[in-house]
Amino acid sequence: MATLSMTQIRTGNYTSGFSLNCRKKVYVRPSRVGFKVFGSGSQSSSEPDLSVTVNGLHMPNPFVIGSGPPGTNYTVMKRAFDEGWGAVIAKTVSLDAAKVINVTPRYARLRANGNGSAKGEIIGWQNIELISDRPLETMLKEFKQLKDEYPDRILIASIMEEYNKAAWEELIDRVEQTGVDAIEINFSCPHGMPERKMGAAVGQDCALLEEVCGWINAKATVPVWAKMTPNITDISQPARVALSSGSEGIAAINTIMSVMGINLDTLRPEPCVEGYSTPGGYSAKAVHPIALGKVMSIAKMMKAEFDSENYSLSAIGGVETGGDAAEFILLGANTVQVCTGVMMHGYGLVKKLSLELKDFMKKHNFKSIEDFRGASLEYFTTHTDLVKRQQEAIKQRKAIKKGLQSDKDWTGDGFVKESESMVSN
Ligand SMILES: Cc1cc2nc3c(=O)[nH]c(=O)nc-3n(C[C@H](O)[C@H](O)[C@H](O)COP(=O)(O)O)c2cc1C
Repeated sequence: MATLSMTQIRTGNYTSGFSLNCRKKVYVRPSRVGFKVFGSGSQSSSEPDLSVTVNGLHMPNPFVIGSGPPGTNYTVMKRAFDEGWGAVIAKTVSLDAAKVINVTPRYARLRANGNGSAKGEIIGWQNIELISDRPLETMLKEFKQLKDEYPDRILIASIMEEYNKAAWEELIDRVEQTGVDAIEINFSCPHGMPERKMGAAVGQDCALLEEVCGWINAKATVPVWAKMTPNITDISQPARVALSSGSEGIAAINTIMSVMGINLDTLRPEPCVEGYSTPGGYSAKAVHPIALGKVMSIAKMMKAEFDSENYSLSAIGGVETGGDAAEFILLGANTVQVCTGVMMHGYGLVKKLSLELKDFMKKHNFKSIEDFRGASLEYFTTHTDLVKRQQEAIKQRKAIKKGLQSDKDWTGDGFVKESESMVSN
C-alpha cells in the first residue's frame, strides 16, 4: 500500500515523493465488501439510467442525503428512503453524546439583495450546529431498524471521535454491528468540535490525518469515505493522504468557515445566542462554485494518482437542481450529496433532481452516469496554457475579430458590447 512518511508530509518532498509512487497506480484497493448489488436498476431503454455502483454499493440514483439534520433520526431517514434517495448518510455520531451541547438559534440565512433581514431568495445558510446530540445507543438502534426494514437500500454512518485510537475502534465496531453499508468519517466540521481536536482539526493536519485514517482503515470492514474540509489551502493534499491511508472514497465539501452577518439594528452578529455568536459553517447555493473548485482539484489528483475503478468521489455543496448535480458528475463525482437543499425544499427534492438530471442526459444522449462522469475535467488547465491557446487561436483566426486583442482597443461607446464579446457564457 502506498503510504506517506511523516517526513514526506512535513517537508516539501511530500507531493513529488508521493506522486511518483501513485502515478504508477500501483495500489489497487481490494474491496472490503465484495460486490453488493441490490435491485435490478433496470430502466426502459429510452430512459437514461441514473443508477450507480460505488465501492461495490448499488444505488438507484446518485443522490445521497448529506450528513446533517436530514439524517438525524429513524423517521426522517425512513422518509428519505421512501422518497427515493439513492443513499442516506446519517448525522455524525460519536461515543459520548453527553459532551455535545447545542445552542438555539443555530442557523442564519443569507438572502439575495441584502444581509439577513432583506426579503430575497435564500442563497446561503450558516450553521453552528454540532454533531448528533442523541445517545449513540439510540442512533445505533435506529440504524439497525432501518437496515432491517430497507435491506436493499444504502445507509452510511457518519462518525467522529477524539484523537484516541481505542475510541475510534470502539465506535467503528459498534456502528458496523448495525449493518450499515459504509462509513463516512467527518474530518471536516469547522465549529465546536475542532476545539476538542475533532473534525476539521484532523482534516487540516495531514500528519494527524494519516495517523487517524490508518487506525480507522485497519479496523473498518466496510468501505470508508473521508469527508474533507474546504477550510484549507490545497484540499487535494489531505484527500491524497486519506486515500493512500486506505480509504475507498473522498466526500467534499463540508461547510465553509464563515461569519454570516451583523444585525445592523442590534450591532450583534448572527446567529445571535444570548447576544453573542461564533463563526460557523456556510452551505447552500452560494457555496456551489467553491465546492466545484474543490471537487475539481480533488478529481484531478485522483485521476492522476488513483485507480478510478476502486476509489470514489462524493461531491457536496449547494445542490438544488439536477444541473448542479450534473456539474459535479462532469468533474468526476460518482455521487452527489444534498443537505441544506433538503432543509429548504424537503425530501421530495430528489424527484426534481432526478427529472432534471435525466433531462440533461437526454439532451446529450447520455445513457448512464458513467457516460459523462469526468467529461469536463480535461478542460481545466493553467492560466499560462490559456494564454498560449488563445495566442495560437488568434493567429489562426487572423481575419475574424473576436474579443479585444489588447487593452488599448477598448472604446467608450462600444464598452458594453466589447465587454460582452469576451464573456464565455
Ligand atoms: C445544519 C447543518 C448540520 C450539518 N451537520 C453535519 C454533520 O453532523 N456531519 C457532517 O459531516 N456534515 C454536516 N453538515 C455539512 C453537510 O453535510 C454538507 O457537507 C454541507 O452543508 C454542504 O452541503 P449543502 O450545501 O448541500 O448543505 C451539516 C450542514 C448543515 C447545514
